[in-house]
Amino acid sequence: MSIDITLTWRRLFGAIGVAALLGLGVALLVAWSGLYNVAASRGHPAWLNWFLELGMRNSVEANAPRLPSPDLTEPGLIALGAAHFQTGCAPCHGGPDQAVNPIYQGMLPEPPKLGDAVGHWSDSELHWIIKHGLQYAGMPGWAAPHRDDEIWALVAFLRALPDLTESEFRHLAAGNGSVTPVTVKQLVSGSATSLAMTTCTKCHETDLAPPVSDKIPRLAGQPRPFLLRALQEYRADARQSGIMEPIAAEIPEALLADVAAYYADLEPRPHPPPAFKGNPKRGREIALYGDPDNRVAACQACHSSAAKPDYPRLAGQSASYMTARLQHWKIGHESKTPLDALMANAMGKLSDEQIDDVVAWYASRPIEGEPP
Ligand code: HEC
Ligand code: HEC
Ligand code: HEC
Repeated sequence: MSIDITLTWRRLFGAIGVAALLGLGVALLVAWSGLYNVAASRGHPAWLNWFLELGMRNSVEANAPRLPSPDLTEPGLIALGAAHFQTGCAPCHGGPDQAVNPIYQGMLPEPPKLGDAVGHWSDSELHWIIKHGLQYAGMPGWAAPHRDDEIWALVAFLRALPDLTESEFRHLAAGNGSVTPVTVKQLVSGSATSLAMTTCTKCHETDLAPPVSDKIPRLAGQPRPFLLRALQEYRADARQSGIMEPIAAEIPEALLADVAAYYADLEPRPHPPPAFKGNPKRGREIALYGDPDNRVAACQACHSSAAKPDYPRLAGQSASYMTARLQHWKIGHESKTPLDALMANAMGKLSDEQIDDVVAWYASRPIEGEPP
């Protein structure tokens, strides 16, 4: 009896093996002969659509890890997400104020309009799709895959999207940029178009308004060499940001130094009272003297207004932005350049509580703070 069962199993496995080999042979023959027409314009038969959709949904469900999501109703996250969406996603997916571009309608599968359509994905699944992209669909992965924090801004925006009117979206995406409609004269002469990727004021400050989100650094008054180096490092993929890398790549090389000079010379305006959660008094001690027991260097050695010109100034910088960068160094995600490594090393074993404190001290200082 036991011999019979073994024989039956053997036959079964043998048959499956032969069938698999035959299937592979047929697939190879089809690929080699060119019989299958890969033209996107043909579309997919309904059964293949169903099959691909099923595969995509189950694959995302199976692969997306459950992540703790931040507060997705935070206005700073939504504003940053909207500004990136307008140039980073809307060309393919369309937006409240724009249809899917006919060029991208020709993709197979066609990029869907996002909004109510993403309601069936969980926050973690949306995060995973935006981070990794979708194979065989033309949906690109995030340009800086370690920047989970930036990707949450897009998830927060997608969650807010169904409730936004066209004009609300336009204002949100334009940030501090102008939303006056383009005139025919400007349109035909090419002297002005709708907001481009390189419109810095969509996100950064102007002489009248602060940055549109606390996730976005203040640039006004930073030393020129620091700003120039930051832009060059984004261009070279030496500093990772899925938001700033594509923007820096589009700035014409000849204008880089002038853009840095523009922001260095921009008069820093007093901004609204900064939001922070730490204790500035304790933070001051760390900034001035460090914490030698935990190998934390005195921050002011490199961040006062008398420090080297290609080091950033921190006085008056956004607490939320500084915290995010410090957390990246802490988990070892940013160390592709020597200065980045210098900074990561200077932090030593700075605890989360110390980060809150030191950031609170810097955020609450006047922007052009003199060395104490
Ligand atoms: C080059 C074009 C392109 C760009 C740019 C792009 N996508 Fe996509 N995206 C696609 C295509 C095509 C699909 C359809 C995939 C499918 O149906 O299998 C897709 C699918 C998606 C989905 C899944 C939708 C669903 O429920 O089927 C989400 C969510 C998404 N994209 C978000 C984004 C976000 C956010 C951005 C910007 C950061 C972005 N995409 C940028 C082409 C693009
Ligand atoms: C969609 C929003 C957005 C736009 C548009 C934008 N930025 Fe940024 N910028 C950011 C964010 C977010 C960061 C922080 C990225 C990081 O974590 O490295 C940043 C960082 C920077 C930095 C580094 C500052 C520092 O303190 O480290 C510079 C320099 C900069 N941007 C310049 C520009 C310039 C110049 C333009 C226009 C050509 C521009 N940005 C357009 C969002 C934007
Ligand atoms: C030995 C010099 C040195 C010391 C000490 C130092 N830093 Fe830095 N820090 C740097 C350099 C250089 C950079 C720029 C890194 C880059 O551009 O990649 C930087 C960048 C930063 C940034 C990002 C600023 C921006 O605009 O993007 C923050 C926040 C920061 N440091 C906080 C601190 C804190 C807090 C301490 C003290 C615990 C500290 N640093 C000590 C050299 C130092």
